[in-house]
Amino acid sequence: MPPIAHLECSRCKATVSAETPQTLCPQCKGALYVRYDLSTLRGIAARDDMIRQAATSPWPGMWRYSPVLPKAEPVTLGEGWTPMLRSRRRARVFLKEEGANPTGTFKARGLALAVTMARHYGLRKLAVPSAGNAAGALAAYAAAAGIEAHIFMPRDVPFANYVEAVAYGANVTLVNGLISDCGRIVAERKEKEGWFDVSTLKEPFRVEGKKTMGYELVEQLGWEYPDAVFYPTGGGVGLIGMWKAFAELEELGWVRPGRKPRMIAVQSSGCAPVARAFEQGANVSQMWDNAQTFAAGLRVPKPYGDSIMLEILRDSGGVAIALPDDRILDSLKDWARNEGIFLSPEGAAATASYDHLIESGFLKAEDRVVLFNTGAGLKYTDVTAEAMCLERPASGA
Ligand SMILES: Cc1ncc(COP(=O)(O)O)c(C=O)c1O
Ligand SMILES: [Zn+2]
Repeated sequence: MPPIAHLECSRCKATVSAETPQTLCPQCKGALYVRYDLSTLRGIAARDDMIRQAATSPWPGMWRYSPVLPKAEPVTLGEGWTPMLRSRRRARVFLKEEGANPTGTFKARGLALAVTMARHYGLRKLAVPSAGNAAGALAAYAAAAGIEAHIFMPRDVPFANYVEAVAYGANVTLVNGLISDCGRIVAERKEKEGWFDVSTLKEPFRVEGKKTMGYELVEQLGWEYPDAVFYPTGGGVGLIGMWKAFAELEELGWVRPGRKPRMIAVQSSGCAPVARAFEQGANVSQMWDNAQTFAAGLRVPKPYGDSIMLEILRDSGGVAIALPDDRILDSLKDWARNEGIFLSPEGAAATASYDHLIESGFLKAEDRVVLFNTGAGLKYTDVTAEAMCLERPASGA
């Protein structure tokens, strides 16, 4: 693992030391990126070394990319290196099955690294506002590391998120409101309580953990880019992390030369601040009123990283899409019946958007695409059952 050279502000490019825990850029409050000296890792020989070392490493999963992650002993539960499944019906469509992660979602990657670094820095109390799955992941990794987790999530999160967080021993507060209200509470209380805030993009390591999705999808496609990547977008950590990975892969010379994928941000019409801003040609999003969707992870009314995401979407030749929940549910059922895959509602937003962009002609059937199923459908039995109007039959019925 390389030592971190420094942290760099995504807005003003100021350099910040990584010797002590950092949150946002002290000058402009921009999100911070982790930067390394990658010069000794350039070329295919270093890439082959990485693969060889991964075969005998004590750290499984995403830690195969240790050469491009911070130098610290991992707090791991086996996250990453998730299956890249080929659709049975569409030869050029791949599904990245993030439901296979510990805690059942891709949030495991970011929180594994955030908690790894928290332990490295000696932090004792972490706090997070969450749409649900980040809470479950923080609770699990904090338990594994012996660190306190303070979690704030909407009262109506999928029940699994509440049950898992309580089971992992986190301090859980259910809030009458959305993730934005939870974020306000954490911001107000953190100083007095001595909490370190691991909110989306307000510390540098969740993006760094999620960047492993970008390395992984390129490696699993034979070190080649796909034509497009569909990403269910709430706060946008994965989108931003994957774009960082692609930039690093270019610098390392580990990816076959080619066009970077078009990045497709997928939202629900019930909460689509990024899609609306993209359509309007704006550089930032506006707060989405009355956010409502059964894709709970997409209920982020005003993402902190909106301007970074919008820039990535435009630079990549991508687009942001919002579809209504009934279209998302139809795609969920379609993939369950015809592919044997029980998607999360967020993942089904990606599969529905793929169909939409094929119909609109934005993509062609020959385009090789990766659709992210960011979570396991089984974490959502309550919300998906409600959307399907499904109730357990009474006995004898
Ligand atoms: C299953 C799932 N998919 C997608 C998202 C959105 O992720 P991000 O905030 O990284 O955009 C979330 C966030 O909670 C989620 O739980
Ligand atoms: Zn700055």
